[in-house]
Amino acid sequence: MGGALLDGWLASPTPPRLVVLDRHRTGSDDTITIVRTAAEIPADFQPDIIVLAVKPAVAEIVIDAIGKALGSRMNSAAILSVMAGRTCDALSEAARRAGADIPVLRAMPNTPSAVGAGISGLYAPKATTPEQKSICHDLLFAVGDVVPVENEDDLSVVTAISGSGPAYVFLLAELLEKAGQAHGLSPQIARRLARGTVYGAGRMLDDLPDSAEDLRKAVTSPNGTTAAALAILMKPDAWPETVPKAIDAAAKRADELAG
Ligand SMILES: NC(=O)c1ccc[n+]([C@@H]2O[C@H](COP(=O)([O-])OP(=O)(O)OC[C@H]3O[C@@H](n4cnc5c(N)ncnc54)[C@H](OP(=O)(O)O)[C@@H]3O)[C@@H](O)[C@H]2O)c1
Repeated sequence: MGGALLDGWLASPTPPRLVVLDRHRTGSDDTITIVRTAAEIPADFQPDIIVLAVKPAVAEIVIDAIGKALGSRMNSAAILSVMAGRTCDALSEAARRAGADIPVLRAMPNTPSAVGAGISGLYAPKATTPEQKSICHDLLFAVGDVVPVENEDDLSVVTAISGSGPAYVFLLAELLEKAGQAHGLSPQIARRLARGTVYGAGRMLDDLPDSAEDLRKAVTSPNGTTAAALAILMKPDAWPETVPKAIDAAAKRADELAG
């Protein structure tokens, strides 16, 4: 996810000044300094925002390493966590143990951020300054849309819908492609049709004011081909039951990760 955000920031017209802790990337330039370990963070770098995009299990280790490297420079920063689950309180506590009493904001972006088409939920606790809130909003807005949420708990369902959501859409594209091949289309043609359809439907959802339901109904002539497919997909025990169940499972998992 960190790589997706970074790709989006680098492609934006006015990339922020970035120091990136990444064990795999190379290629520092005027905008971006890439370091392999926190100890290599330049001594003159004063971060406004520390974006944490590691797996939750290593969050404390990374916060501790950054705290040791930045020392008192960490005190005027805020942390923006994109990790599923880990709460602001738990991360603030980790920052305190690392020597900095600083606010932690949480965002749930998604991987389309890599192509500037992300959508992020953003939660800022009361301790956050308007400037910190605004920088985090702008960081996320540089790679797509941003939806502020009032309650930290809401991030679990944001995670389930838009954080994990691209995977559901990719699965649909995958299944359409396989079905096309099963009907004898070449893999290339099946792939173009499946991808083009997901892209085109996404564009219509984005460009037009109509609801998703109205757009669906507009494609569905009575007794037509779409109606034949939807009669299967919309059976009460098919998508209307499985999609909400899947979202419940993802949101429950996000809650579990929060502990
Ligand atoms: N994937 C998504 O769509 C998505 C969406 C929203 C939010 N998130 C959140 O984003 C976070 C990362 O998920 P991901 O799927 O991007 O995982 P990932 O691909 O495993 O990326 C985690 C990165 O953290 C690095 N890392 C681990 N330990 C480190 C350390 N001690 N110092 C420096 N770097 C370290 C890893 O480097 P190595 O490869 O060298 O270990 C890897 O580059 C998770 O907390 C997840 O909840 C993910």
